[in-house]
Amino acid sequence: MRRVIAVLLSLMLLCAYLPAMAQEGANLVYRSDFSQGTDGWYPRSMGTATLRLEDEALVIEGRNGSWNSPGRDFSLIPGAVYDMKVMVKQDEIPSALFIVSIAHSAGGVETYENLGQVKAPQGQWVELTGTLIAGQYDTYILYVETGNTPTLSYAIKDFVLTTEADVKPAEEAEQLPALKDVYGDRYLFGTAVTYMEAINSNRMDFYASQFAIMTPGNEMKPDSLLNVQASKAAAKDDETAVVVSFNAVKPLMDYCWAHGIKMHGHVFVWHSQTPEAFFHEGYETSRPLVSREVMLGRLENFMAQAFAYVEENYPGMFVSWDIVNEAIEDGSGKVRNSNWMKVVGEDYVERAFEVARKVAPAGILLCYNDYNTAFEPKQTGIYKLVTTLQEQGTIDCYGFQMHNATGNPTNSQLTRAVERIAATGLKLRVSELDVTCSSNSEVSFNVQAECYQNVMKLVDAHADQFVAVQVWGVVDNLSWRASQYPLLFDASNKPKPAFWAIIDPSVWREEAAEGE
Ligand code: XIL
Repeated sequence: MRRVIAVLLSLMLLCAYLPAMAQEGANLVYRSDFSQGTDGWYPRSMGTATLRLEDEALVIEGRNGSWNSPGRDFSLIPGAVYDMKVMVKQDEIPSALFIVSIAHSAGGVETYENLGQVKAPQGQWVELTGTLIAGQYDTYILYVETGNTPTLSYAIKDFVLTTEADVKPAEEAEQLPALKDVYGDRYLFGTAVTYMEAINSNRMDFYASQFAIMTPGNEMKPDSLLNVQASKAAAKDDETAVVVSFNAVKPLMDYCWAHGIKMHGHVFVWHSQTPEAFFHEGYETSRPLVSREVMLGRLENFMAQAFAYVEENYPGMFVSWDIVNEAIEDGSGKVRNSNWMKVVGEDYVERAFEVARKVAPAGILLCYNDYNTAFEPKQTGIYKLVTTLQEQGTIDCYGFQMHNATGNPTNSQLTRAVERIAATGLKLRVSELDVTCSSNSEVSFNVQAECYQNVMKLVDAHADQFVAVQVWGVVDNLSWRASQYPLLFDASNKPKPAFWAIIDPSVWREEAAEGE
């Protein structure tokens, strides 16, 4: 009976609160004004602290540690963004620091994050706010603690937890035509996905409704796959030893496997997002760089383990992989002078592909991936590099990143780039498509739509060679270039003009005409 009353009360509260929240574009997850009881809040302490209600506030006394605090268990959606607000007050000292924090546990291990803080002068109610992207945990406790004032008594009231716009595909989104279907007879249409997106199953269901292939946005880069600590230990016996860890990419691999989505691997050899320790003796940055032989040995072990792991656990799911990324310099068109060059030498790209060909399963296309293919002297540098690799029989595919801006590169520059590389006969991919805009006005979104449309027309003209087109993210607010609105969907998961331009131009034209 008590439970029923509690549910009814919270429903009433929710109804009273929803109109206000809707205006802010956020969804209310939980609110407690402490008018009816402690509502599940309890004292976090070793047993000394107590909670009592006073004037619709929760008072904590008898503390014996700064972490002693009013706390409450919440069930949160991994990957969702939450905002919280709470009023705090203390009457004992001139000023005290208040912190809103989360304790989460996975496999019995509890860890903590501070989400926001504020200083509260004596005797005044002050608003404390915090933000959280929920990680993947078994339990979550939100609590309000203090900084360095372990015995201070204080009160909290009006705790409100909200979340971003609902990521569940709205009815409208479910009715949308799907990119994966419209282009599916020619090539795979896909996207990049990061860890925080992959652990949110509502969001993933929305992505799965549109995309047939996914690339981990960061989680298969060397700084994610290489376990430096464990490699350091293993290198004591064998300098070429490498220990890999798939923790960060596992949620995405598991989702794709369960939903029949293909994956593209990204990336083994790159000058960026690669631990410095990888290049040093004993994986110690204070020690000298390793020899060419040791480095090639490490690279072979690294690739062999990654390929073997995915083939064993997700056979056939990976259809292509970037072996080397961005190795040609913009200004010179020459091979980039990175740690790889210093340790292996000028032929590091060729050696990397040779090793990849040796250890990769036959079904995975080996790709070279780069940006600015539309510009010289880089284009010629890329052309020379891929034709050399082709002669050596180690490359299958070229990936055009295509991080474009509206009007840059021009359509004719892009056309020339695609034609030039297509002439090699290699398989092709658009690997990281996005088009940045100077503003989020309707005018810029229509120009952006035209840019996307031009890219798809160009790809279609070479559809026999393209194996995939992948956007670099789905919704503008989660893009690596979020401030420039580069993607097909907006922050409320609604399709933008660019989506319609590449899937059903008649809808785009109708909407553009209505907007005039
Ligand atoms: C970007 C990611 O999107 C960001 O989250 C990260 O901070 C930096 O890297 N070329 C590539 C991608 O090959 O790996 C890059 O991804 C974007 C440029």
